[in-house]
Amino acid sequence: MAADYGFRSGSGRLYQDGYGSVPSSATALALGNFKKEFMELRKSVRFNEYKELSSTMDPNPLSKAALVVGSALQSTLTKADSWLEGRGVLGKVEQDTARASLTPKERKVLEKLQALRLDDRRVIAREHKREKEGRGVKAPWLIKGSYVFLCWVLDILYANRPIQRFWVLETVARMPYFAYISMLHLYESLGWWRAGAELRRIHFAEEWNELHHLQIMETLGGDHLWIDRFFAEHAAVFYYWVIILMFFASPSAAYVFSELVENHAVDTYSEFLEENKEVLQGIPPPLVAVTYYKSGDLYLFDALHTEWESGSIRRPECNNLYDVFVNIRDDELEHVATMKACAENTIKPKMDVSGEAEGGGWGTTPKWCCRWGEDRAGLTVQGPRGLLSIVAAYPQSSRSGCL
Ligand SMILES: [Fe+2]
Ligand SMILES: [Fe+2]
Repeated sequence: MAADYGFRSGSGRLYQDGYGSVPSSATALALGNFKKEFMELRKSVRFNEYKELSSTMDPNPLSKAALVVGSALQSTLTKADSWLEGRGVLGKVEQDTARASLTPKERKVLEKLQALRLDDRRVIAREHKREKEGRGVKAPWLIKGSYVFLCWVLDILYANRPIQRFWVLETVARMPYFAYISMLHLYESLGWWRAGAELRRIHFAEEWNELHHLQIMETLGGDHLWIDRFFAEHAAVFYYWVIILMFFASPSAAYVFSELVENHAVDTYSEFLEENKEVLQGIPPPLVAVTYYKSGDLYLFDALHTEWESGSIRRPECNNLYDVFVNIRDDELEHVATMKACAENTIKPKMDVSGEAEGGGWGTTPKWCCRWGEDRAGLTVQGPRGLLSIVAAYPQSSRSGCL
């Protein structure tokens, strides 16, 4: 039986909440969010959410120092908040009762989720093994250095909290696809360059896919703590602009960075699956996962796959949480393949340019009709170039074709 456990922070649920509704103005949204998150921050301090972190952190010197500073800050803020509340400057803070009202079945699932583990050192060993086998990613030191720093921060902050770690990763992992779509629109609006159909479809399908990964982590309680939401959402906005700037200068550098991150996701999920197989097999799949992997309209799911041979279709199982994580890991493998193809300018269009896919049904039985860069029926499919090369070539370009 699929379930939505209700462990999440209260953000909207795909397929369940506000289906098709439109947002109010930015001012109303920003004010509403600030009020809500300010109250959440106060609760996190007053009811010390941070003790959950201290019980899971690895006993290395950096974590110990962070804990000493963190607990001093928490106790000072608690005193200040109580003082302001006592004088009526701030409203009364009340503890959430959502977790107290869980059914016994839900409580059991929550206990199992809290027992899930991930050994960072084994993830690193997996990564080294992959590189030794020749499946590493060649990247300039600046990109590789940024990637290593990102992994190191995650290892420190999310030791022994795999679901929260995955939620942060998925929040950030969507950003490159937003950034690529934004840049393709920008280049087209300026009349500098127009992307081929396949590139647009792939990036949109990837963003949709990552959104579902994120929703799955939310149903498992990944965004429950205020500090995790604060960290992930700010990191995501920062990361979006980093990728935009990278793409401006060199799309292939941006794609290589994404390839590194996607490979890391594959290694992390593979290790997680190996360490937690039995526990995961005993937990029902979240509702959003079943809806995404098993519902009737799988057009965007199929559009995600760029490396299939003609006639093969991926239709994964989704009977328990183990299947769900296998599916996520396999999706990440598709992202690796796509980012590699984008970086190397070798992406393959699925569809015949006439608009008919082999075997009927757009995207259900992919047909590779030509490779990126080949001219077909007067349409040239090319990868985007960096900003400088596009500007330099602009006078010779036409609005409808490519440079
Ligand atoms: Fe993902
Ligand atoms: Fe991904």
